[in-house]
Amino acid sequence: MLPGDINLNDLFVFDDGIPHDWFRWMRANDPLRWQSETEGAGYWCVSRYDDAVAVSRDNVLFSSSAGGTNIFEVGEEQLVVLRALMLNMDPPDHSKYRRLVNKGFTPARVANLRSGIVNMSREIVDSIAERGECEFVDDVASQLPMMSICDMLGVPAEDRRHVYDLSNTLIGFDDPEFQVSDEDRMNASVGMFEYAQKLGDERRANPGDDLVSVLVNGEVDGEKLNDLEFNSFFLLIALAGNETTRTVTSQAMRLLIEHPDQRALLVDDPSLLSGAVEEVLRYNPAVIHFRRTATADTQLGGQAIKKGDKVVIWYPSINRDESMFDDPDTFDIRRSPNEHLAFGVGEHFCLGANLARVQLNAILGELVSRLPDMEFAGPVRRLHSNFIDGIKEMRLSFTPQGKAT
Ligand code: HEM
Repeated sequence: MLPGDINLNDLFVFDDGIPHDWFRWMRANDPLRWQSETEGAGYWCVSRYDDAVAVSRDNVLFSSSAGGTNIFEVGEEQLVVLRALMLNMDPPDHSKYRRLVNKGFTPARVANLRSGIVNMSREIVDSIAERGECEFVDDVASQLPMMSICDMLGVPAEDRRHVYDLSNTLIGFDDPEFQVSDEDRMNASVGMFEYAQKLGDERRANPGDDLVSVLVNGEVDGEKLNDLEFNSFFLLIALAGNETTRTVTSQAMRLLIEHPDQRALLVDDPSLLSGAVEEVLRYNPAVIHFRRTATADTQLGGQAIKKGDKVVIWYPSINRDESMFDDPDTFDIRRSPNEHLAFGVGEHFCLGANLARVQLNAILGELVSRLPDMEFAGPVRRLHSNFIDGIKEMRLSFTPQGKAT
């Protein structure tokens, strides 16, 4: 491989999986490599763990708000809309907002959802168990994330399909198979805003014990969220919590099938489950990159960065940094310690990390114990994207089993 071959904008490369040989080369030889772009100014690639931590923790020098968190450049008008999402805010605005929503995402609140999530996982596995085959992404992985997010938000059962469909339309991908027109996407975001508004109004009048009630009625420094802030938050949750957890679920099953020794360990000893979930998150962290923008000239990893430069953190690379992880390319469910950064670090640390962990433990526990011999029954088709390490189709077969309920 020649360094000149590296092009992280080339989505076709990602069709075959994460280009780990490129990242390995970058970590060793050019840890802050400059990536040029045909439609954009180019960007610095953060490939090492320590640099990623430094960037994520310094919200003054490396802003989420100045240019948003996507690599592509957006106009000022679109930035105003993006900045309504917490993901694209900087402190102090971000901290204020985050304090309020943290009240709705406490470990206790997530723990309350646990038994519902376990029940849902059982039902999902029941729905395929007798068939002996499934299309894993649609039949299994995509089900739990939205169901449990809707549960947490307090979306009534009869509206869940509506919210699920809107959220799927909104996850705009580069993948031609999933492309929707700008008009459809715009309609879906209007639909999501309208739905959020309706539910928010209901919970203002009749508060319950759900996240929407906490958000519309809670106050920070004597102020409540206004309609735009609340609706944007609802939309962010539906987007951020859907594709990510779906991806990790699919990647987990792919990895366990590809590493039968590791699966056998897990089948024999279910106490290894939470370690296995962490190792999947390290090995295939779902989110491939997020961006920051430098707000002043600075130095990073020995490289001079100029004010206004884009700085992009590559999570699959930092999670395999040799200085942090022994034998990083080995998938080892007993790895300890395992301080991966799949959920980011610092001020923007993933709000849904607790919820995602509960879901992943529940669904994988159910699958491994009840259908321990899942095998590939066709090629694994990956998402055409350098943002989400998704799988769009994975046909599996297994020995049919009875339902649990
Ligand atoms: C395994 C699944 C998930 C992964 C890998 C993941 C990954 C991430 C990462 C890397 C960030 C940091 C962004 C940054 O530094 O700019 C983040 C932020 C965020 N995530 Fe997740 N996420 C997952 C699941 C979820 C779920 C289930 C939810 C909601 C229910 C969620 C909601 C959010 C939100 C709201 C933020 C922004 C937080 C902030 O700006 O303070 N995520 N996530």
